[in-house]
Amino acid sequence: MSIRTVLRMGDPCLLKVADKVEKFNTPELNMLIQDMHDTMEAEDGAGLAAPQIGVSLQVVIFGVKSNPRYPDAEEVPYTVLLNPVLTPLTQEVEQDWEGCLSVPGLRGMVPRFARLRYRGFDQYGKPIDRSVGGFHARVVQHECDHLQGILYPMRITDFRLFGYTEVLFPGQALMDE
Ligand code: NI
Repeated sequence: MSIRTVLRMGDPCLLKVADKVEKFNTPELNMLIQDMHDTMEAEDGAGLAAPQIGVSLQVVIFGVKSNPRYPDAEEVPYTVLLNPVLTPLTQEVEQDWEGCLSVPGLRGMVPRFARLRYRGFDQYGKPIDRSVGGFHARVVQHECDHLQGILYPMRITDFRLFGYTEVLFPGQALMDE
């Protein structure tokens, strides 16, 4: 296990379209996912995509446990998701604040589909098929954007709602994705 460096905005690796995972449950894949897990825990993040640690593969992890530091955070089950396919279940879009481990210290208001279905596989090749809404849907869209080389600032529609976390939310602990 090891904690890896999270690449920051400006690094060209974050702008690449990631490759599909071809083989499940290999030692290399399992080690990558362990490192992603350890890195996300160390950074206290809600999600992480493989390109954020410099690996251009379609692998994302996410999850939020109930935590007194984040009383408003919805619980999201810890999930390892490979080769994801997202299908919006509504055209309704919700705006909410997002942060990203690759864009430290900043937050922006980002539009996302309110509900969606996501399909893919876990690291052992077992299919995943879920329909979700709210923060769960938001975090999936944020992480899967990383696999397309998209960072949340590229989605912001009103740049007046983009700024430094400590200025926007003084004294509050907030999770990045
Ligand atoms: Ni992110």
